[in-house]
Amino acid sequence: MNNSITTEQLLLRRRTVRHFKKQSLTSEQYARLMEVARQAPTSNFLQQCSFIHITDPAIREQIRAICQQQYVGANGDLIVFVVDLYRNHRIRAQFGLADDALNSTDAFIQGMEDTMITAQSVVMAAESMGLGCVYLGSIQNDIRSIIKILKLPKLTYPLVALQIGIPELIPELKPRLPLKLRSFENQYEDRFDLNNLNEYDAIVEKYYDLRDTSKHVDSFTQQIATKLSQTNHKRDEILAIIQEQGFCQY
Ligand SMILES: Cc1cc2nc3c(=O)[nH]c(=O)nc-3n(C[C@H](O)[C@H](O)[C@H](O)COP(=O)(O)O)c2cc1C
Repeated sequence: MNNSITTEQLLLRRRTVRHFKKQSLTSEQYARLMEVARQAPTSNFLQQCSFIHITDPAIREQIRAICQQQYVGANGDLIVFVVDLYRNHRIRAQFGLADDALNSTDAFIQGMEDTMITAQSVVMAAESMGLGCVYLGSIQNDIRSIIKILKLPKLTYPLVALQIGIPELIPELKPRLPLKLRSFENQYEDRFDLNNLNEYDAIVEKYYDLRDTSKHVDSFTQQIATKLSQTNHKRDEILAIIQEQGFCQY
């Protein structure tokens, strides 16, 4: 327990944990996290997010294969956060109402907003309980398969997952861009000087990454050059899949 530190301190020292002890969360810990998820802010009080606890080893294995990260579904607990407009579709159907509003891009964005806020609420609650977390955007590697494996109906979309557990190794705090590059007043400032990144690049290169300690970490600018040039054909289908799920029709 970290009762002696403030929420602000908790937020400032948070870091992604990818090495967990060989232990699952207790049912009491999991229930506490779910209460936090339940109470997260929700756009327009629509409550358009659901959570799926993946406890079946076979399904965990399938998700690990999609994510291609060995810590996925290994030690700790795996939770998938789902944009969920299906429930509200069912409620509206009771009244004989059509889904038009649920098929809009606006509605999908509201569902995504709820889902990310909920996941982050769970992350911070887990941190406050002495647990560690890693977000898994890597479920997007093959979202069609994830939808099939989780038997997700139309008007749902698996946005992100979390692996949560008892930290085995805690990495260094990962340095962020200087505020002067990210913080503006009144209007966006697009004349930033790229030379301002030299110092930050040097700091990032010194970061000790536990993901692969045998490799040196590229500078931030180098990471932006390489990462955003990588292609994954299944990820290129994401917009089409979102639309197949009934979202973003207009
Ligand atoms: C939406 C989202 C998706 C992420 N997906 C993954 C992932 O699939 N695998 C992983 O190891 N880390 C993932 N991360 C963690 C980031 O790599 C991490 O937050 C970033 O490198 C900064 O490090 P820090 O969280 O330790 O400060 C994700 C983070 C976010 C916010």
